[in-house]
Amino acid sequence: MRKFIIDTDVGGDDAAALVMALREPDIEILGITTLGGNVPIENTTLNALQVVEECGREVPVYMGCNKPLMRELVTADNVHGKDGMGDCGLIHPTRKPEKLHAVEFILETVAAHPDEVEIVSLGPASNIALAIMKDRDTMKKVKHIWSMSTCGFGAGNITPVAEFNVFVDAESYAVMLNSGIPMTVAGFDLCLGDASLTPDELDGLLHTPLGRFIAEGNRVKLAFNESLTGRAFADLPDTVAMAAVLHPDVVTESVTAHCYCCAEETPAYGQVIIYDIKKPLSVKYDIPETFTTVIKAINPDLFKQYLYASLEE
Ligand code: BDR
Ligand code: CA
Repeated sequence: MRKFIIDTDVGGDDAAALVMALREPDIEILGITTLGGNVPIENTTLNALQVVEECGREVPVYMGCNKPLMRELVTADNVHGKDGMGDCGLIHPTRKPEKLHAVEFILETVAAHPDEVEIVSLGPASNIALAIMKDRDTMKKVKHIWSMSTCGFGAGNITPVAEFNVFVDAESYAVMLNSGIPMTVAGFDLCLGDASLTPDELDGLLHTPLGRFIAEGNRVKLAFNESLTGRAFADLPDTVAMAAVLHPDVVTESVTAHCYCCAEETPAYGQVIIYDIKKPLSVKYDIPETFTTVIKAINPDLFKQYLYASLEE
């Protein structure tokens, strides 16, 4: 059975991704690790605990980094609400997080299950980078990292060239990217267009308790996106990434790529250059060995089918 750790800064789309994983019978979720990102860690942890409870599961939640390793936290409460889940009174968990720090939990778990643990990273890379810096040899035994990060092959969502998860802690992202751990990246471009949910599709989730939880927790995105683009829609980047992890048939195209993360303090901070190694270049370019696959396209209808199925009773 596949073994997972899910590392997340729980906002609405992380919550939907967690539900998808927690409702999947054929995988083992060893723990959920939280960090500051979309909202401060106190909120992302409460949100993780609430999602676990909504799903009727007993999966432990471990708190990690409250801020990026080398800079102050930038949040996205303008997108997700102050509590990260739309500020509509959804969050009142009865359980508490574990005492162990998330980074210790990651290291202990990987050491206990060498070459078996897959980490799904749905937020900034701070916890994962800290684990790598603390004990690189142990982290080399991570089977795979699945990361929702980068603009993919599209535009940035926080600067013209940067996606939020990378931008929050690009130093950590570079550590994760250069660690040599095999990694698959699901960029922000995958969740737009037909993969995003219309207001009617969000309302279509209201007939089950889990569906209502996810619809209400993501409704705040409708107005946010309408104010940006003139069209109301809810994009679910982490949920798309989780669908790709759990259901490979959702992915229709991916490329082996050499990725470079810009972590210098310039307007390109947080940009990830993705070079498809099969593309010929006019100037010879020495490609370092690459361990990264970048998903280029998904089947949006199939993604939605899997999402809807996970929210049924
Ligand atoms: C990423 O940033 C967060 O706002 C989302 O939860 C997702 O992980 C998208 O850029
Ligand atoms: Ca996230």
